[in-house]
Amino acid sequence: MAHSAKRFFDGNYLARCQVATPLPLVKWVWERTCQGRTVPFRSVLDLGCGDARFALYGAYERYTGVEIDEDNGLSSNLPVKAQVLYGCALMMSLQGYDLCIGNPPYVRHHDMDQEWQRGVAGAISELIKMPVDLRANAYLYFMAKALVSTREDGLVALVVPFEWVARPSAEWLRRFIGANRWSVSVYRLPDGIFPRVLTTASLTIIDKSRGDGQWDYYDVTKDFSTRKVDGPTCTRHKTLAYSRRNDILYAQRGLSPGSQKIFCLTEGERLYYSLQVGRDVCPCVTSLRNLPSDFKILSSGRFWEYYVSRGARCWLIRSDKESLSKELKAYLDSVDPEKRDTATCRKRAVWYRYKRPDPARLMFSTGFVNHGPQVLENRIGAVHLGSVGGIYGEKRLPYRKIAGYLRNIDFASRIIHHANSLRKIEINQMNSVLQEALDHLT
Ligand SMILES: C[S@@+](CC[C@H](N)C(=O)[O-])C[C@H]1O[C@@H](n2cnc3c(N)ncnc32)[C@H](O)[C@@H]1O
Repeated sequence: MAHSAKRFFDGNYLARCQVATPLPLVKWVWERTCQGRTVPFRSVLDLGCGDARFALYGAYERYTGVEIDEDNGLSSNLPVKAQVLYGCALMMSLQGYDLCIGNPPYVRHHDMDQEWQRGVAGAISELIKMPVDLRANAYLYFMAKALVSTREDGLVALVVPFEWVARPSAEWLRRFIGANRWSVSVYRLPDGIFPRVLTTASLTIIDKSRGDGQWDYYDVTKDFSTRKVDGPTCTRHKTLAYSRRNDILYAQRGLSPGSQKIFCLTEGERLYYSLQVGRDVCPCVTSLRNLPSDFKILSSGRFWEYYVSRGARCWLIRSDKESLSKELKAYLDSVDPEKRDTATCRKRAVWYRYKRPDPARLMFSTGFVNHGPQVLENRIGAVHLGSVGGIYGEKRLPYRKIAGYLRNIDFASRIIHHANSLRKIEINQMNSVLQEALDHLT
């Protein structure tokens, strides 16, 4: 690994992002990229090139791959017209390439070295003359770098998560592309194209030679046949907008107390530590996945049947309280310090004292596979955690009607694919729908 940059990239970072592109996909990406264009490309750049497998196909005169990890190894039979440079691709000065092709690393901002991330975000922001969102995933920096490293009429063809077309943390990049009126073709790749990777992938081709600012969307099947679709949701509907919360009626994400294994106990664990319901624990819901889809109300009977008796983590410890019972203290003392060494617990003055939200009036699953999330009335005052969202608002509102309104909405046609057949509604997208519900029902 290149020495100066080495300190920023630990084994964790590399393990997360070293996913090789299957060779049939590399071949297809080249076919799509060359289609209708003058080939061979004179100079090709591949940022985060791994074993430089993109050099094995395509029509080009000179290929330059950049890779951070020298231990990665190179494909056998690399043509002599291919060279690989070692170092951080985002910190190198690279310019004037005809084409930037490849599959850049996917690394969430939480998993990046902060010093490196700030340095890179600052450098990219200077190059594109626009502010960069610090919540951006690494692949967005690589897309921006690809755009500034290619010629004025160059081409960028990258395998990146499909979500970039809609995520708020990628808005700066979409704005940069929009301001230049470059044309964008997004090919949504089929589920399972990367073994073990769940996020829906795309081939995104950005053509800097066309100044029409057009965006086209395509669906790709497992055998690489391609069909044009109306938009990112594959329907003619626009993606759901993101709205700030309105205090009259709003959604809130699930509580993240630190580690569900420590803060949410099963019935067996509760009994083992002699913790009392009410005094030491309260009901909580970490998933709606195992509930029948026609359930509309979370009642006490259903909570016992579907959570408590099935061994689900459904009791949230009340370590938010000032005064704790001796049983709860004994439980907290028994927690392995290594297991509670999470970023959330470290941030607190007392590692276990979280801030408990009020129980939501309605709960919904943020992930869903059919037309929309399951929505439940919260009759038992359960706290919602993790991927379960909550809906709050003024007491006077007709929550049953609001739940009914939400159940009738075709969310799937307004939300992009997240992973496999799963779609995911963001909290601020739910806020847009709640605004519509308020206008409609009150
Ligand atoms: C998703 S993998 C793809 C590898 C290869 N392009 C392929 O398609 O099989 C991303 C690659 O980027 C490399 N990488 C991560 N951060 C990098 C950086 N800052 N500069 C250069 N390469 C980097 C990783 O080591 C990894 O090999």
